[in-house]
Amino acid sequence: MTIATQDFEIRPFDAALGAEVVGLDLSTPLSTSDFQRIHRAHLDHHVVVFRDQRITPAQQIGFSRRFGPLQIHVLDQFQLPGHPEVLVVSNVLEAGKPIGLGDAGRFWHSDLSYKEKPSLGSLLHARELPAEGGDTLFANMHAAWASLPVDLQRKVEGLRAEHTYLARYAELQARSPWRPNLTPEQIAQVRPVLQPVVRTHPETGRKALFVSEHFTTRVVGIPEDESRALLAELFAHSVKPQHVYRHQWQPHDLVFWDNRALLHLAAGTPDHLRRVMYRTTIEGDVPA
Ligand code: OGA
Ligand code: MN
Repeated sequence: MTIATQDFEIRPFDAALGAEVVGLDLSTPLSTSDFQRIHRAHLDHHVVVFRDQRITPAQQIGFSRRFGPLQIHVLDQFQLPGHPEVLVVSNVLEAGKPIGLGDAGRFWHSDLSYKEKPSLGSLLHARELPAEGGDTLFANMHAAWASLPVDLQRKVEGLRAEHTYLARYAELQARSPWRPNLTPEQIAQVRPVLQPVVRTHPETGRKALFVSEHFTTRVVGIPEDESRALLAELFAHSVKPQHVYRHQWQPHDLVFWDNRALLHLAAGTPDHLRRVMYRTTIEGDVPA
């Protein structure tokens, strides 16, 4: 059986990154040529917003898998029951207990940069949106690299930095109900790793800065105070307004971003409003 090609449009945003896809239905498998159009759009725009997706978790998983194997988040307490590949991102408490990770994205980061194989990309599906707030911001790390002063480019190229899941865990734990104490098994899954400060995108060959305020703790091989100052400078530069697109969610949006090219941040949701999102996370390669 051949799969019919769908009639859909890809509309780039008038912004530092991003495009929306209108008229595509991800509840059925994509034809090869449709898949290739989406793959190309993802590489070109870094964020692809699929509008109006009435999809089940299984359909989200199926579509995500076409890009690579899926990664299971270390916080297994926030898996969607029956679907370990889905991380529930939500501020909702049921009977006083969190149903998901409520402070995901509290600081700028690239998903799973603390793993030897960080994420290629993540897909976040809006299941329940707040009447206000809940935006997600994305920063273009190719643009951040390209606009870095040449002396700074020379200085950081070739350097490596440590990324640690635990870098700011205690700080998050102190202010939210969503950070359980980690078990020894969980801690063993998130040992610190070294990553290049500047990575080359494996599919496009473009360079990108690859450090974040959430997970990057130090640059290797330079004194501690210099490392701290350098990272602060890179963080501040990365998320300048001209590099950033702010996503205001519409009902049933499925947003697919490239963790190799972007950082992202949750703007936050007022406590009294409910937000429920389902995330799938695709494994990428070892950054180089
Ligand atoms: C994530 C994340 C941001 C948000 O799910 O990886 O960072 O706005 N989410 O929910
Ligand atoms: Mn994230």
